[in-house]
Amino acid sequence: IPFWVVIPAAGVGSRMQADRPKQYLPLAGRTLIEHTLDCFLGQPGLRGLVVCLSVDDGWWPDLPCASDERIQRADGGRERADSVLSGLDRLVELGADDADWVLVHDAARPNLAESDLHRLLAELRDDPVGGLLAVPVRDTLKMVGADGRVTGTPDRSQFWQAYTPQMFRLGALRRALGEALAAGANITDEASAIEWAGQAPRLIEGRADNIKVTRPEDLEFLRRR
Ligand code: CTP
Ligand code: MG
Repeated sequence: IPFWVVIPAAGVGSRMQADRPKQYLPLAGRTLIEHTLDCFLGQPGLRGLVVCLSVDDGWWPDLPCASDERIQRADGGRERADSVLSGLDRLVELGADDADWVLVHDAARPNLAESDLHRLLAELRDDPVGGLLAVPVRDTLKMVGADGRVTGTPDRSQFWQAYTPQMFRLGALRRALGEALAAGANITDEASAIEWAGQAPRLIEGRADNIKVTRPEDLEFLRRR
């Protein structure tokens, strides 16, 4: 099915404590963002792809993919949601239609399996809302007080971890993100904007190893594989 892709890649990676934004760290001979882009570039349904880059980004121009005509740039914003909204605006400039599907996927998530991407597209192609890859929580969850002591053990079966890609219609997502941000809502992923607008995204179970590289041990984990 036809779809567009927005890759937010304008973060600084403060929790990685590296010498550069984490999307430019190496994994198996290439940068994380090159692996991430490769997950999409071979797909026949791909209509276009936008990477959201910090206005201070000096690393992107050195990558071979910077001259790839299938990839367009957008300016990143202060928070991830601002970067995504800027990427969606860019899609409108590129001629994308409000009814078109958009997949938003973190630059720092380089290990997306093609089978997961295909399942997401197949399961949601006729869905009225859209949805996201997610993984059921595996460990027992604890609530904790300020003193570091356990205050409760919630029922784990109600909790899933939200992954990306997250797949929504361009018009609905752009409107929901814009209005939620303007209202000052706490928007940490695309689904939370859609939820804020009163709709219920569907969860599609994905592989647990589609991790977001957040801390140094995450990258060590991927490098060991
Ligand atoms: N991102 C973005 N624009 C921002 C903040 C984040 O495009 N203003 C992107 C990051 O580049 C990353 C994805 O959103 O690909 C997920 O964000 P996160 O893991 O929080 O990355 P960083 O913000 O870079 O890391 P940190 O929070 O540790 O600083
Ligand atoms: Mg961040």
